[in-house]
Parts: sequence; C-alpha cells; structure tokens
Amino acid sequence: MELDGRELRSALGRFATGVCLITAVNEEGEALALTANSFSSVSLDPPLVLWSLQNNSEVFTTYSKARHYAINVLAGNQQELSSRYARKGDHVLDAEHFTPGEHGGAPLINDALVQFECSLDATHPGGDHLIIVGRVHAMHAQVEGEPLVFYSGAYRALA
Ligand SMILES: Cc1cc2nc3c(=O)[nH]c(=O)nc-3n(C[C@H](O)[C@H](O)[C@H](O)COP(=O)(O)O)c2cc1C
Repeated sequence: MELDGRELRSALGRFATGVCLITAVNEEGEALALTANSFSSVSLDPPLVLWSLQNNSEVFTTYSKARHYAINVLAGNQQELSSRYARKGDHVLDAEHFTPGEHGGAPLINDALVQFECSLDATHPGGDHLIIVGRVHAMHAQVEGEPLVFYSGAYRALA
C-alpha cells in the first residue's frame, strides 16, 4: 500500500518535540546553525545522541562531515532563532547569537536550555535523510527555563 506523503507528515507531526539548533563550523571557518527537531537520545554509556539531516540540504557537506558539532535545545523564548536558522541556504550565525564551545569549537547558542558539545561518532543512511550519531563530551544545562515545543506544524509552549 502506497502511503500518502501529506498524511504521513501530518501523523508524524503529532509527536511533540523540542526544537534544536545544530551548530558547526564550515571549511571557510564560518559558524553555521540549522533548525532541527529530529534530535533524540540513543545511549547513556557511551553517551550517544542522534539527529537526521535532509540529503538535499545546502549545508549537507558541512554537517555530514563536521567532526565537532553542538546540539542546542531552544528555550521557549527563542522561537525567532528557530525560524531564522530554518531559512533555506541562510545558515551563517549572527555573531551575537553564539559563543565558541570548548570541546572542538562548535558554536554554543547563547541562552539555550541545553548545549551538548558532540563529536561525530557515525553516520547511517536513512532514506532521504542521513542519521548523524554524536558522542557527547560536555553539556551545559539551565536549571530553570521552559522549552520551545513543536507540535502539529506549529510552535507551542508548555501549558
Ligand atoms: C521545526 C523545524 C524542524 C526541522 N527539523 C529538521 C531536521 O531534523 N533535519 C533537517 O535536515 N532539517 C530540519 N528542518 C529544516 C531546516 O531547518 C531548514 O529549513 C532546511 O534545512 C532549509 O534548507 P537548506 O538546508 O537547504 O538550507 C526543520 C525545520 C523546522 C522549522
């Protein structure tokens, strides 16, 4: 049975997620950010996480090869950052949005709820996406603060 693509997207969207900015530095030394909600935990020991990158992304080469990257979980008041770095082909970070990390230099988004500093562990083909598994080397979490939530194609706040 052929699945209807729109129905599938809509059904998958009923799984509420947080929103992340995945950050890395490209070969020209520019700091990049890309909005993603495919982030998931994989393993505690060793500490592994994953996210999925569209194969047709304009920044595919940078993100699929980056040896170090960061996963920044956005706070409820950072919706503008999510929209900003979801714009096609427009991923160079504004200087006021980040600070370089200590483990490999991946950019850390200022005031994010959590910043995970990762190194590339493995990639796996996943249909029209590439599954990117990272090893967590450090994390910086805010004790207080609400997450940005994405549900059914729209941003939400925790009620
Ligand atoms: C809430 C949200 C979640 C997204 N999640 C992902 C994701 O997990 N993986 C991905 O490759 N793109 C994801 N995107 C799309 C990218 O942020 C971005 O729009 C897309 O990569 C733009 O095309 P480009 O990469 O060619 O510039 C998401 C966008 C939004 C708004």
